[in-house]
Amino acid sequence: MERPVRVGIVGSGNAAVFHYEAYKRVTGIDVKVVGVTSPHQNHRETFAAKRQIQPFPSLQDMLPAVDVIDNCTPGYAHEPVSIAAFEAGKHVIVEKPFTGYYGPEGDDSFHGNRFPKQKMLEEALASARRVIAAALKSNQKLCYAENWVYAPAVQKEAEILSKSKGQILWALGGQSHSGSPSPAYGIWRLSGGGSVVGKSCHPLTAILYLKQVEGVTLHGKAIRPKAVSARTHEITRNPRFMDRGFLRTDYRDIEDYGQIHLVYDDGMVSDVFASEIVMGGVHNWLEIFANNHRSRCNLSPNNSMELYNPKEEQLADVYLVEKIGTKQGWSTPAPDESFLFGYPQEIQDFMEAVVTGREPKSGMLAASDSVGVLYAAYLSAERKGAEVEVPLDPAL
Ligand SMILES: NC(=O)c1ccc[n+]([C@@H]2O[C@H](COP(=O)([O-])OP(=O)(O)OC[C@H]3O[C@@H](n4cnc5c(N)ncnc54)[C@H](O)[C@@H]3O)[C@@H](O)[C@H]2O)c1
Repeated sequence: MERPVRVGIVGSGNAAVFHYEAYKRVTGIDVKVVGVTSPHQNHRETFAAKRQIQPFPSLQDMLPAVDVIDNCTPGYAHEPVSIAAFEAGKHVIVEKPFTGYYGPEGDDSFHGNRFPKQKMLEEALASARRVIAAALKSNQKLCYAENWVYAPAVQKEAEILSKSKGQILWALGGQSHSGSPSPAYGIWRLSGGGSVVGKSCHPLTAILYLKQVEGVTLHGKAIRPKAVSARTHEITRNPRFMDRGFLRTDYRDIEDYGQIHLVYDDGMVSDVFASEIVMGGVHNWLEIFANNHRSRCNLSPNNSMELYNPKEEQLADVYLVEKIGTKQGWSTPAPDESFLFGYPQEIQDFMEAVVTGREPKSGMLAASDSVGVLYAAYLSAERKGAEVEVPLDPAL
């Protein structure tokens, strides 16, 4: 491209902020975030003014001005925004979860935790397939913003795996913390689920990616997920839960604990845990047990820095690490948390994919397979852990 790659961000919340910061760190490619759109005029105008970009009243207004749509909306809007962008011939970056099931449109009485999970799985898959079909038809890039794929520790493991020709026998990982701050999170209609969809998607997709890398290295094609057994619980809504005020507890109809056991088509396995009941900052970790090495990827906490602070107040204005409850005593501040989480590397890869035409490392295969696993996991949890086959998109 002669001119800069022009990006338009949809949504002006938390993810839009860290995506915008990541564009500023892109090297070797001329990229310009030209505008933003989101439903609340005040919010989008404040977001735009702070960054000197253009606020657009709607997606339709922004589309002609951009080459790439960066979809930073909540899960329920991922499908319509992405499809509209592909139909307009734009590349699309879409945040996690790729898509899912959010109940019948406009039905405020919908409770996802009580809704039949077979139907939910079918609907979530249909949604994912519609987006993939639109991407394939448009011939534009679908970039799935799963930042864990780009975390330096996960990329190092990918290098070790491919250069040593290793086989992952068992992968174990998780994401947990004391509760998401987003008001949309907790309401299935908006978030598409709880810990399983919102949190386990991260370690799960990193493992799906590593099994893809392993498969391509050893056999010339990706190893895919095959069958899942899962459990979910609503621990903070259990009448016997004793609330001491340290955890978020106002979830409407989502689980706050989930575990997924996954078998791959090569017979090897992974286990992923996710929850909203863990104090002490975000716990993001992945362990790989391979036939020729073992690794532990610590995204957070990460001990590249250790700090002792004798007095809480003196660090009031200093950011240490995500969702830590206190700054007093010993902690492990993240010197560059975005980098450790893979945010700038993700946007760099997406911009390179757009300019060169190659596939991004986290693309439609990871996006599609993750939806299949996550919603098959809900069906298994409904059946108290019975094994469920993971349906794969025949187009991929
Ligand atoms: N990768 C990560 O680490 C990470 C972290 C946080 C959030 N996320 C993901 O990013 C997405 C957004 O989360 P968030 O925390 O920024 O949420 P948020 O609630 O802070 O912001 C969402 C934004 O989207 C706007 N929006 C809602 N519906 C829209 C629509 N139909 N069209 C256009 N704009 C619309 C909202 O007005 C708001 O500006 C979610 O999918 C979430 O899972 C990912």
